[in-house]
Amino acid sequence: MKGFITAIMLSGIVVLCNSFLIESDLSKLMRTMTSDAKKLREKVQKGDKIPMFYKKYKRIYTASPSSDNKKGDEFDALARAFLTNCERLHSSDDENRKLAYNAMVTSCIRCHEKYCPGPLSMLKRMILP
Ligand code: HEC
Repeated sequence: MKGFITAIMLSGIVVLCNSFLIESDLSKLMRTMTSDAKKLREKVQKGDKIPMFYKKYKRIYTASPSSDNKKGDEFDALARAFLTNCERLHSSDDENRKLAYNAMVTSCIRCHEKYCPGPLSMLKRMILP
């Protein structure tokens, strides 16, 4: 029931960083990452193993953003930290899976605090208590 309520809370919320409805290549990747993260959250709650999910995220470095200020000096380092945490979640075991999931979501949050605050409240709700 709790998971169901969260699923409703997480879906149907339009979260954008820019006031224009530009669907950049980076936005498209982010939307994929968001729907993946919702599925991962459910798997972690059920205690399931985490399949490979982040190979396609490597283009985070090259995907073009809606405007240049969305990718500043710290972007690549924040992206690298995020991908490292994806790797750790994928290789996590029963004991540390929730911790690894929350670390991954926290690295979404770190980058968003810097470059795209729009989805922050949605991202914070993705953390597992
Ligand atoms: C290294 C930085 C970085 C990381 C890590 C990151 N994001 Fe983003 N995200 C951005 C930037 C920058 C944009 C704005 C893209 C644009 O405007 O082109 C964005 C946009 C978004 C959007 C709005 C997409 C739209 O429709 O315009 C969502 C939702 C989102 N990110 C979710 C996530 C989730 C979920 C994660 C982690 C699984 C994540 N982000 C990790 C930088 C990041």
